[in-house]
Amino acid sequence: MDAPGTASRPDKHDPASIGERTLSVHGGNQAPGTGGEGDAIRVPIVMANSYHLPQDPSTMDWSNPEHLTYTRNTGINQIALQDKLRALEHGEDAVALASGVAGLHAVFFGHVNAGDHVVVSDTTYEATYKLWTTLLPRKYGIEATFVDITDLDAVVAAIRPDTKLIATEVIANPTTKVADIAALAEIADAHGVILMVDSTFTPPPLYRPLDDGAGLVVHSLTKYINGHGDAMGGAVIGRADLVAPIRSEAMVDVGGVISPFNAWLIMRGSVTLPLRLRQHQESALEIARFLEADDRIAYVAYPGLESHPQHKLARRQFGEPGRGIGGYGGIMAFALKGDPDLQNRFVNDLKVVTSAVSVGHDESLIVHVGTTGPRVAAYPDGFREYGHLRFSVGLEDVDDIKADLAAALDSACGDSATGRPTG
Ligand SMILES: Cc1ncc(COP(=O)(O)O)c(C=O)c1O
Repeated sequence: MDAPGTASRPDKHDPASIGERTLSVHGGNQAPGTGGEGDAIRVPIVMANSYHLPQDPSTMDWSNPEHLTYTRNTGINQIALQDKLRALEHGEDAVALASGVAGLHAVFFGHVNAGDHVVVSDTTYEATYKLWTTLLPRKYGIEATFVDITDLDAVVAAIRPDTKLIATEVIANPTTKVADIAALAEIADAHGVILMVDSTFTPPPLYRPLDDGAGLVVHSLTKYINGHGDAMGGAVIGRADLVAPIRSEAMVDVGGVISPFNAWLIMRGSVTLPLRLRQHQESALEIARFLEADDRIAYVAYPGLESHPQHKLARRQFGEPGRGIGGYGGIMAFALKGDPDLQNRFVNDLKVVTSAVSVGHDESLIVHVGTTGPRVAAYPDGFREYGHLRFSVGLEDVDDIKADLAAALDSACGDSATGRPTG
């Protein structure tokens, strides 16, 4: 037993000694000018684009990311947010950027050179697809091979001597296909390539790809980590040697820097991340089951459902509490049995759920996406036949969301009991 007064005590600034919620409240809240008598208790917004230089700037290490000189290099609010993200993701270093797409581009720009090859999941967020199919090949002669990321033999077969990177999302936008990050990390290590994981749909403390061997993690901070539908931001977190070129080349030299105000808003939003995530996931599972039980619904794609093709993998990777809080995130895709007009009638009749893009906000968001477009060939049958409604379940009362969905279903398709249209 510890002697009186020497029992081990949590230290709010030592991530190893505290729980997830303590970390979300206190992580990163240590920037210069906080913590002393008379200081603000939270890192204040510092809306300055330059900082006073020392008397003899010629002695300065201009490349030191902690050295406050100019906001494109670093700033009080970036430092605080980066410290927090590093701690939340169990990374060695983090860079905060202007948006999630700036984060994705920063990884490609920092680690892939003209003539290199990459292996990319065939199902990703649209801008990732466009970067690899159009922009990076055209501008830099970079070649991408798209593979079904759940087919590990196909991933290995696609790797070439000039491959630099494997890029995937943990839960893919929009199909919710789940990648096996530990298995992909093993493949990446064996072939000396970097595994980059976009974990926007599975933020900590739900899942931490770095713990499973990924080299770099990207987040759209715009989504769950901020969580309030106001600020935009992105981040790259991971091994220090992999993050360094991203900071110096993509941020300092190319300039996709986050504004201090957005960094501050995201820092503030992230305080409640574990609490919000729990509610998002609990409501999403209930709603996914509710929709799946309705025979007017063509399909529901949600990793928490037993019908999901990678449900067992999702359960092992992040579904059970243990390494994380357990759960499957708050995003699903589904469609009504019918044509695009029917999907639109349903969406337009919703009164609680908002028709808008983005995910991970406090409010429920839905977007109707049709059956055309270059990416659709890689989607499952239901997506190709009916299109899909990407649905990000918000923090409203789950009964209100369910009642809203039920009423809009009745009005679009007809009352489930009588089969008669009601609206
Ligand atoms: C999985 C994923 N990654 C990246 C992004 C891009 O993020 P941002 O809109 O912040 O640039 C998105 C946006 O929806 C996304 O869903």
